[in-house]
Amino acid sequence: MKTDLLAAIDSAATLDALEAVRVSALGKAGSVTALLKTLGGMSPDERQVQGPRIQGLREAVTTAIATRKASLDRAELDARLASETLDMTLPAAAAPQGSVHPVSQVMDELAEIFADLGFAVATGPEIEDQWHNFTALNMPESHPARAMHDTFYLSPSPLRGEGRGEGASASVGVLGDPAQPLSPTLSLEGEREMYVLRTHTSPVQIRTMMGQQPPIRIIAPGRVYRSDWDATHTPMFHQIEGLVIDKGITLGHLKWTLETFLKAFFERDDIVLRLRPSYFPFTEPSAEVDVGWTMEKGRRTLGGSEGWMELLGSGMVHPRVIAACGLDPNEWQGFAFGVGVDRLAMLKYGMDDLRPFFEGDARWLKHYGFSA
Ligand code: PHE
Repeated sequence: MKTDLLAAIDSAATLDALEAVRVSALGKAGSVTALLKTLGGMSPDERQVQGPRIQGLREAVTTAIATRKASLDRAELDARLASETLDMTLPAAAAPQGSVHPVSQVMDELAEIFADLGFAVATGPEIEDQWHNFTALNMPESHPARAMHDTFYLSPSPLRGEGRGEGASASVGVLGDPAQPLSPTLSLEGEREMYVLRTHTSPVQIRTMMGQQPPIRIIAPGRVYRSDWDATHTPMFHQIEGLVIDKGITLGHLKWTLETFLKAFFERDDIVLRLRPSYFPFTEPSAEVDVGWTMEKGRRTLGGSEGWMELLGSGMVHPRVIAACGLDPNEWQGFAFGVGVDRLAMLKYGMDDLRPFFEGDARWLKHYGFSA
């Protein structure tokens, strides 16, 4: 019996098979257990002979099972280690990584360039009231420039109609009469309650002049909105506004500032600017600024003056705007400019379509060298 059991134990190929052998020998109904039970019915003499033999058998079987179990455990562990190999020397799988967006990159660069010229960064709300976006900038309600901006109008808050029962009739795109308070209970200054998505960063000029005493030197980068969509127009885009208010400021200061900034931004000393008379309601005189280009390796490249490309709007801040902000236009003068950040990015990085700026396609970013 001993030989059979030990052979069965040695040949048990798995832990389950080994357990079956253990139960058949040492379990409640096992063969060795049955032998042990016979001891009770033996005479003392017989027991003295059989006792040690049977106990010896039990011990031999128990030890053999433990030994076999240890070797099966080790085999199982070896098999697992072999199948779950980790090669620590392999390079880690590449995880997709984000990168700085060209627009953010350009805004950061501009903030740095203008910081060197002593300009602080100012901000304003993207949901702007019509007084800041238009009226204070010398664009009264009937002004045609308002229509030119393709403005997104926000429907007035229903609260404002309370008491006159006309809140519900206000709708998107309909201009109220700013001279008429919309509600007798909430009669704030009329159009200060009428909101638009700001169409330019120029309202930040107003907020800055109203919020701090000159001298003022700020840039205001941010999102602006116009209802427009093609290769070079998106309904949301980015501008950076510049504003200087001080004593004795002239167009010369404006031109020098723009030249200095564009040379630093495009990293070329041969940037040439041309100021062309233009019209903006909030500047007088107003100038459209063109930047010169030359053909280099068959491509238009900024620098030189073979041809001209329109780049930004600017001018001397209109005395009426200065006055609307509560400053004395006889004491304070200044210049302002506004430029499309997306356009600057396109020119700097040679991109020809604005739409991918807002599509979040990592391949496009990578193509222009923006992947991390
Ligand atoms: N706000 C003007 C625009 O969006 C640009 C501008 C800014 C022009 C400041 C003059 C001065 O077109």
